[in-house]
Amino acid sequence: MGFWNKIFGKSRPNPAEEKELLAAIDMNKLPMHIAIIMDGNGRWAARRGLPRAAGHRAGVESLRDIVKTCSSLGIKYLTVYAFSTENWKRPQEEVNILMDLLVEYLGKEMRELHQNNVKVRAIGRIEELPASAQKALSDAFELTGNNTGLTLTLALNYGGRLEIVEAVQKIAGEVLKGRLDLKAIDEKVVNEHLYTVGMPDPDLVIRPSGELRISNFLLWQMAYSELWYSPVLWPSFRKVHLLQAIIDFQKRQRRFGGL
Ligand code: IPE
Ligand code: IPE
Ligand code: MG
Repeated sequence: MGFWNKIFGKSRPNPAEEKELLAAIDMNKLPMHIAIIMDGNGRWAARRGLPRAAGHRAGVESLRDIVKTCSSLGIKYLTVYAFSTENWKRPQEEVNILMDLLVEYLGKEMRELHQNNVKVRAIGRIEELPASAQKALSDAFELTGNNTGLTLTLALNYGGRLEIVEAVQKIAGEVLKGRLDLKAIDEKVVNEHLYTVGMPDPDLVIRPSGELRISNFLLWQMAYSELWYSPVLWPSFRKVHLLQAIIDFQKRQRRFGGL
């Protein structure tokens, strides 16, 4: 690895390794929905003596690589945690950088995403994001709304608890208006009031950066997801890591409470 690669930790593709991993994957048993907690940007930067912003910027490269990989594998859903309802606690400057990066990412990538038949969605309280971010998102929804390939869902100002609270409010409202019977509330009704309505639950949830927690991501939807952790920080996370996660996923026995 060259000097600058060491500094910036650019993970170069390794075609031989990728090929070997690809051969180990059963294309008929791919996870339908992969969700990723994109964590570790700050630590990636700190280890290189760079500002946190450099870590976030490098993280966008990983997102690009992983979206491309999921799309070409034929994965149907990829959901990425980009900003939590708790991330507002960070210094305003960092919040601004993250919002600007979102606008920049969508602006730069939208056309290519569209060409690759990717449909962009978002979950979270989008109406509280800065106007520029909302505009970039609605442009992306409009352009890619009819695409039928990978559904890329960006979790932005997303909190699993807030999502459930909002669902409870909506359901209670319907009961109060006499449109829904109390007895008719079941898991299906709850599902239909979540941001993720119409999406299957994640089969595989990936958290890089070595943290072993969920951090308020997809709480309801993760009930039977397979969890996969990696010490690799998000800006260094590449195709090979995703392929490894899928291989491990395919070795798991999912029982859903049965035998
Ligand atoms: C993930 O990286 C990005 C967001 C949460 C928005 P972090 O910024 O959390 O990076 P660490 O965890 O401090 O390394
Ligand atoms: C989770 O990462 C949220 C996102 C990746 C967007 P955090 O860095 O915010 O999580 P904690 O604070 O370590 O739990
Ligand atoms: Mg973090």
